Amino acid sequence: MEKKFKRTLVTTALPYANGPVHIGHLAGVYVPADIYTRYLRLRGEDVIMIGGSDEHGVPITIKAQKEGVTPQDIVDRYHNIIKNSMEGLGISFDVYSRTTSDMHHKTASDFFRKLYDKGEFIEKTSVQLYDEKADQYLADRYVTGTCPKCGNEHAYGDQCEACGTSLNATDLINPVSAITGNTPVLKETKHWYMPLDKWEPKLREWILEQHKEWKPNVYGQCKSWLDDHLQPRAVTRDLNWGIPVPVEGADGKVLYVWFDAPIGYISNTKELLPDTWETYWKDPETRIIHFIGKDNIVFHCLIFPAMLMAEGSYQLPENVPANEFLNLEGDKISTSRNWAVWLHEYLEDFPGKQDVLRYVLTANAPESKDNDFTWRDFQARNNNELVAILGNFVNRALVLTHKYFDGVIPAAHELLDIDREALAEFKNVKETLGANIENFKFREALKDAMNLARIGNKYLADTEPWKLAKTDMERVETIMNIALQICANLAIAFEPFLPFSAAKLRDMLGLDTVDWNKLGEIDILAAGKAVNKPELLFEKIEDSVIEAQMQRLERIKQENIINNFKPKAVAPAVTIDDFAKLDIRVGTVLECSKVKKSDKLLEFKIEDGMGGRTIVSGIAKWYQPEELVGKQVCFIANFPPRKLKGVESQGMILSAEDAGGRLVVIGPTGPVKPGASVG
Ligand code: 2FM
Ligand code: ZN
Repeated sequence: MEKKFKRTLVTTALPYANGPVHIGHLAGVYVPADIYTRYLRLRGEDVIMIGGSDEHGVPITIKAQKEGVTPQDIVDRYHNIIKNSMEGLGISFDVYSRTTSDMHHKTASDFFRKLYDKGEFIEKTSVQLYDEKADQYLADRYVTGTCPKCGNEHAYGDQCEACGTSLNATDLINPVSAITGNTPVLKETKHWYMPLDKWEPKLREWILEQHKEWKPNVYGQCKSWLDDHLQPRAVTRDLNWGIPVPVEGADGKVLYVWFDAPIGYISNTKELLPDTWETYWKDPETRIIHFIGKDNIVFHCLIFPAMLMAEGSYQLPENVPANEFLNLEGDKISTSRNWAVWLHEYLEDFPGKQDVLRYVLTANAPESKDNDFTWRDFQARNNNELVAILGNFVNRALVLTHKYFDGVIPAAHELLDIDREALAEFKNVKETLGANIENFKFREALKDAMNLARIGNKYLADTEPWKLAKTDMERVETIMNIALQICANLAIAFEPFLPFSAAKLRDMLGLDTVDWNKLGEIDILAAGKAVNKPELLFEKIEDSVIEAQMQRLERIKQENIINNFKPKAVAPAVTIDDFAKLDIRVGTVLECSKVKKSDKLLEFKIEDGMGGRTIVSGIAKWYQPEELVGKQVCFIANFPPRKLKGVESQGMILSAEDAGGRLVVIGPTGPVKPGASVG
């Protein structure tokens, strides 16, 4: 049976304050959490949404070291950017705080101490990687190496991003210090561990038996962890940035960032509600929902719950609707590679278009699999859906009301079948849309809302009030009343998804507030009241705007290739005689055509000053045949002839890779006699 809850606590993964937030964070966590929270608020429920910056952890100290500033400088910078940009997008946190706050340091420290006093930790001395030059232990991201599971050479000390395996730094093959590039040595150190194995049976029962309704991606990941069996996990680190371990003999040690960060949800609730915070965490009638991305599942479904169980007085989350990842134009979003659409930049580049981004990220949310954000899709969804369907309907309804009734809402008279049919579709929307949001199916819920606008457009197209205006004004009154009531329904249905546009719409309709319970009704607007002048809800986005964004990404791609390009090692020395063995010449391309039955090969007729020759080259992917005709190229003239797809090739055209990885043919910088030797 469905459990009934008195209140809801929505938490959102605390983003690391080592960079701004991007569309991946938004689609995965903040937009769905905001839709969910706004929906509950609209229903008049008791709900709070908790956010904040995650300001500890190694990526922050590494960034600070690189820039020659303090970790505090880094987190101050990004905390402010993140907080302001989230506010700019209308993410309606009740509190957005930070894990460097005094409240958090005390809360996390007390939490650790309580577990320590209860004897919930194992104390263990083990060998860890140590950088002798930097005089520092290498935890987590301070060390990279080869993943023992998949062979990825760039795995981190806490995780391999290629295969998702969570690692201990000492698991890495060929570890290298991220500080000095040196090979670390092994050195003993003492740490405190959460015995996750002890909690495994309880976690199994709680998730695998009691929460079969969780999203399959979340349930599946938990099951796989549990089936592999849980091991004790260190919850302290040898670092100087973080919350000091509050026990004797722990100098130079801090809490592991993944121990303190989820406690941040508790600290921030305390900050918001100093007197009543405990009700939201400890009363079984509170529903706790953690919104996170898939890389955070283990921490929110296994480790944090084990910490809460060990503490003993907290409720466990009711659901953890983790999303998969959003990619950008086919590539994984990456803060370090600058491959992202950054929220603060979006808000500057697209002023007043917060809802367009919210719409696109919801319509395309990675709810059950990874998805791709493309600027073309962004443009198409704006132009073909927001402008053409939603904006168009609202605009038509208001323009016609002004045209025929001076902006006064007309009364409805007798309904015809055509009216009843359109309205029949409204009957279930409250239930289906509501159920979809409650089940974390935000894409479907958005479709439900959009469907109302589609119905509105169809209704106006079918009833054609502009034709009846000359003959049957009473009928026009009914049609326009219904059309305006549909607009009022849209103002309710879109409030959780597109809060800026819903507010504009309410304003145009003269509605001060909206009530979820009125969704599906057609008596929301009172006849005789005036509506305001229509304002466009959405505007078409031109090609040039989209192309500018795509060019920006193209530039970043080129920069990344150049920055990451490592020329291969120089080959062993040769003598002048070795070089002379290769006969390199310049020739002029007379003809060029595609080789039949091959996507890769081009056939060149070359003027070589010696009667001409044919050369076949595998560069069809990068050149159109006509592009090279008339150009001069360098080729090796003394390769033995060989047949490629039935064509005899008498040499090899020289080429090199450009910044984008495409082959570029090499030739002289000025005109040269065909057949001239290169040397
Ligand atoms: O993955 C991340 O970005 C983490 N900073 C999320 C932390 S969520 C919570 F535990 F605070
Ligand atoms: Zn791996």
